[in-house]
Amino acid sequence: DIEKKIDSLLALMTLEEKVGQMVQYNGFWDVTGPTPKGGNTKKKYEDLRKGRVGSMLTVRGTKEVRAVQKIVTEESRLGIPLIIGFDVIHGYKTLSPIPLAEAASWDLEAIEKSAKIAAAEAAASGINWTFAPMVDISRDPRWGRVMEGAGEDPYLGSKIAKARVSGFQGKDLSDPLTVAACTKHFAGYGFAEAGREYNKADLGTITLHNIVLPPFKAAVEAGSRTFMTGFNELNGIPVTANKHLLRDILKKEWNFDGFVVSDWASIEELMTWGYTKDRAETAVRAANAGVDMDMEGNIYIEELAQMVKAGKVKEEILDEAVRRILRVKFELGLFEDPYKYCDPEREKEVIGNPAHIEAVRDMAKKSIVLLKNENNLLPLQKKKQTIALIGPLADENNSPLGSWRLGSDDHTGVSLKTGLEAYSKNKINYAKGVELVSNDAQFTKELHINTTDATGIQEAVEIAKNADVVIMALGEHGFMTGEGRSRTNIDLPGLQQELLEAVYEVNKNIVLVLQNGRPLTINWADQHIPAIVEAWQLGSQSGHAIAEVLYGDYNPSGKLPMTFPRSVGQIPIYYNHKRTGRPVDPAPGDEQVFWSHYIDEENTPLYPFGFGLSYTEFSYKKLQLDKKEINNNEKLQLSVEVSNTGNYDGREVVQLYIQDLYGSIIRPVKELKGFELVNLKKGETQTLSFELGPKELGFYNETGEYVIEPGEFKVFIGGSSQTSLEDSFSIIE
Ligand code: IFM
Repeated sequence: DIEKKIDSLLALMTLEEKVGQMVQYNGFWDVTGPTPKGGNTKKKYEDLRKGRVGSMLTVRGTKEVRAVQKIVTEESRLGIPLIIGFDVIHGYKTLSPIPLAEAASWDLEAIEKSAKIAAAEAAASGINWTFAPMVDISRDPRWGRVMEGAGEDPYLGSKIAKARVSGFQGKDLSDPLTVAACTKHFAGYGFAEAGREYNKADLGTITLHNIVLPPFKAAVEAGSRTFMTGFNELNGIPVTANKHLLRDILKKEWNFDGFVVSDWASIEELMTWGYTKDRAETAVRAANAGVDMDMEGNIYIEELAQMVKAGKVKEEILDEAVRRILRVKFELGLFEDPYKYCDPEREKEVIGNPAHIEAVRDMAKKSIVLLKNENNLLPLQKKKQTIALIGPLADENNSPLGSWRLGSDDHTGVSLKTGLEAYSKNKINYAKGVELVSNDAQFTKELHINTTDATGIQEAVEIAKNADVVIMALGEHGFMTGEGRSRTNIDLPGLQQELLEAVYEVNKNIVLVLQNGRPLTINWADQHIPAIVEAWQLGSQSGHAIAEVLYGDYNPSGKLPMTFPRSVGQIPIYYNHKRTGRPVDPAPGDEQVFWSHYIDEENTPLYPFGFGLSYTEFSYKKLQLDKKEINNNEKLQLSVEVSNTGNYDGREVVQLYIQDLYGSIIRPVKELKGFELVNLKKGETQTLSFELGPKELGFYNETGEYVIEPGEFKVFIGGSSQTSLEDSFSIIE
């Protein structure tokens, strides 16, 4: 069996070869062509030959991967194949929506399928390991990497983590169309202070255990074969040297038997944080803490063997790390055939397969969230009418692809204009209006409308004047979110607000289609614009999916996985916040100031978590609980009747929340504990069932222990976190 094979291999390995398995190098892009000049490429080749490298990242394509595998397997002493990593975040060549958008579908089956397709295309291109899913919970839309996660909620986040791991890895890791998952970034990266990238994260035990860790735990339970640390520190200790997280929790308590890779140079950065004084100490700290592989940091390769000889790191630590790495390589089947992911025929056949294109389009329409629809402006009527299509994202085929798409080709998205034109024969007049900026800083010095923008706005106003309907495509440049893209201001960037207001002056019949990678502050639009559609960055098929929704051939069903604030000053803002000692709204007219509020803004969000409209209406009735009291090891059955009372067939995400009324620690005002997707024809009613038991009703206390306490609970069911039906029950001693 695998463990015995590892024993035999380990027995043959020198110290340097063991360290080698723990080293990951970035690729040199073009191994089959001429050797690129500069950098340390020559040394990288030598290290591959000497068996001093266990993995490479960003090498891709069957030819390239075959070339590097050939070097290690034919020229190094033991011929151990490489594991080839790549950031396959939302598709490889065929792009699905950004993960935050996919999360808005709440459709676990579709999300799993999307990960499966991404895995198939990547694996066909030589890759056998993706650096995904990113499961960092975040409550801060200023942080650019929220586009990569599943939003703010640990329950939804855990379900999605499981779906994505299962999609990437399939049932059998040795299937050549699957890849090993890498759950990242362990842990707390999404709590970077003030939303500023790479910043520190101060997190109490309660938040760590109840909010941040659950999706990681779910990923382990789903069988994620690898984990990545983060760039952040957590309560004073960089997570890349955090023994408590890596050894006590991940490897011991959760029994994780795959391996842990650092983030890019995050081992080396222990010195920059001021956590270690030199490279030698850095290697010792990271290895002892449980980081099994050093991503492009050059610390392990340079220091680790020496530190073992000096007695600072036990050789057993290396044996354990190497065992974990070899285990995954065996499971992938790389020892049987190092070239199993390198079949050029398969590469041609799988990448861009029409079934993939259809699936990402389906995923894209399910990810769209209808935020507002006054006077049923949507769906657009198919009758003959003149449409003005305005905005810098209207004819864009690059930005809708989103960030983190290293395997794809630029400008391969379907723009909204193309989508609409393919969809209907309506006359479409188009004007860009203003430029799309990729960086707010381009406008911070002095917000001014220069001649080009003034002309652009004027053109837009002209075509809007005579249109029956105006569709405005506004939002963020595709690279305004992602790593290193934090913002302090999450309004519509550049001059888009000016454009929107100018068009509104002449035609109020506006459908605003937003394409963005994070929640935005859009109060003015919410107050004035009759229809608002959140279309995120939907990937390759973006324009087609939006057109289908605008014309009502797909009735929007997405629900926000992250709160939209009214103002950046409310951040962090999230639905499952704790109570305060002074939470009560004063009576109208009461001038009371000493309660938890702002004097210049409401406490409530603009759009809450779980919110999303449909072209039809749903009503909720008959919430029933089979018991009013249970023991702490019992389960409670609930049911509710959901009816489609509107004029269209539709799909609803039925959400179940609880509130634990009091406890040994302060409990949140609401927590999501279940959801179901239901398709209802107009006029149809269905009864849905839910279950609440020990897994849903307990929490981690201040020592990190899971407890289920007696007490009273409220239960809420409805179509958003501001739900409609309510009942109560108790856990008795
Ligand atoms: O996977 C990523 C990670 O999320 C951020 N730093 C670089 C890694 C590899 O590209």
